[in-house]
Amino acid sequence: MQSITVTAPGKLMLFGEHAVVYGQPCLVTAVNQRMTVELYHDGNKPYEVDLSEIKDARFVSAIIDMFKEKFHLKIGKLHIKTNCGFSGKYGFGSSSAVTTAMVGAMSEIFNLSLNNKQIFDLSYEVVLKVQGVGSGFDIAAATFGGLLYFVKGGQVLENLPLDLNQTCFVVGYSGIKSNTVEIIQQVAQKRAQEPEKFDRIMNAIGELVNQVKPKLLSHDWERVGKFMDFNQEYLRDLGVSNQKLEDLIAAAKNAGAWGAKLSGAGGGDCMIAISGNDKREAIEKAIEKAGGEALNIKMNAEGVKIER
Ligand code: PMV
Repeated sequence: MQSITVTAPGKLMLFGEHAVVYGQPCLVTAVNQRMTVELYHDGNKPYEVDLSEIKDARFVSAIIDMFKEKFHLKIGKLHIKTNCGFSGKYGFGSSSAVTTAMVGAMSEIFNLSLNNKQIFDLSYEVVLKVQGVGSGFDIAAATFGGLLYFVKGGQVLENLPLDLNQTCFVVGYSGIKSNTVEIIQQVAQKRAQEPEKFDRIMNAIGELVNQVKPKLLSHDWERVGKFMDFNQEYLRDLGVSNQKLEDLIAAAKNAGAWGAKLSGAGGGDCMIAISGNDKREAIEKAIEKAGGEALNIKMNAEGVKIER
C-alpha cells in the first residue's frame, strides 16, 4: 500500500478574462487557498476505484481513465480523498486545483516523473473533456503558481518575477455564484451578434494586458490600478458585470483604491481592488458595508506540490 498527498492552489484573474478565450494574453496569480488530494494505492489488489470521499468526481474519474489509456497502468485498488481549503463558492478554481493535484499525484504514485508542463497539458486536456470550454489559465496557476503571463492552452507561459504581496490587493466576494461556462457561452453569442465591436473589445483587452505587464514589473501600482479601471470598462461593455460587482467596485474606489475590477467570468464571484497598505482596512470595511465579503487572500502562491 502506497500513499501520497499533493496540493495545488486556487487562482485569481488579474487582467484579461474572456479575451484570453479568444487568443489574447492574460495575467493570473495563484492564491494561498489550496486543494489537497490524497491517493492510496494497493497494486496487489484487483482494480477498484473508490471515489466515495470526493464531492465532484467528474474530473478525478476522467483523469483515471486518461492515465489508464495513455500510460497503460496496472491500477490496483485506488482510494482518493480530496479536501478543499476554501469554499467552492468564491470561484478560486476548485475544479482546476483538484485536477492539477490529482494529475500530480497520479504521476508520483505510478512513477511517471511528469514535469510541470506535462502536468499542465494533461490537466488542461481533462478540463476540456469534462467542461468543454476554457483557456486553461486556472490550470496554469494551479500547476506553476506565482504570477503568470498566459496565452490559451499554454502557448505562452511566462512566470513573472514579481511578488504582488508588496502592495495591497483587496478581494471582495459578491455573494453571487457565477456560472463560468454559461457566461462564456453568453459572450460567444455577443460575438455572433456584434462581431466588429466584439473584436475591438478583445483586441483592446489584449493590448491593455501587454501595457500593464511592465507597469507591474516596475511596481507602478497606481498605474496598475488605472489599468484595472480600464479593464473593468471593457468587461462592462461585454455585459459580464452586474450591479452587485459594480457596487463593491465603487465602494472600494471611494474608500481609496487606485483601481478595481471584477475577477473571472463575471456575473458574480469576486472583485479585486488595488491600493496602498494603509487603505486596506477602509476598503475592506467599505466592501462589507456595500454587502460584500472581504477575503484575506495572499497572491503568488506556490504551484502544485508533493506534500508527503
Ligand atoms: O470564472 P473564472 O474565475 O473561472 O474565470 C473565467 C475566465 C474566463 O476567461 C472567462 C474563462 C477562461 O477559461 O479563461
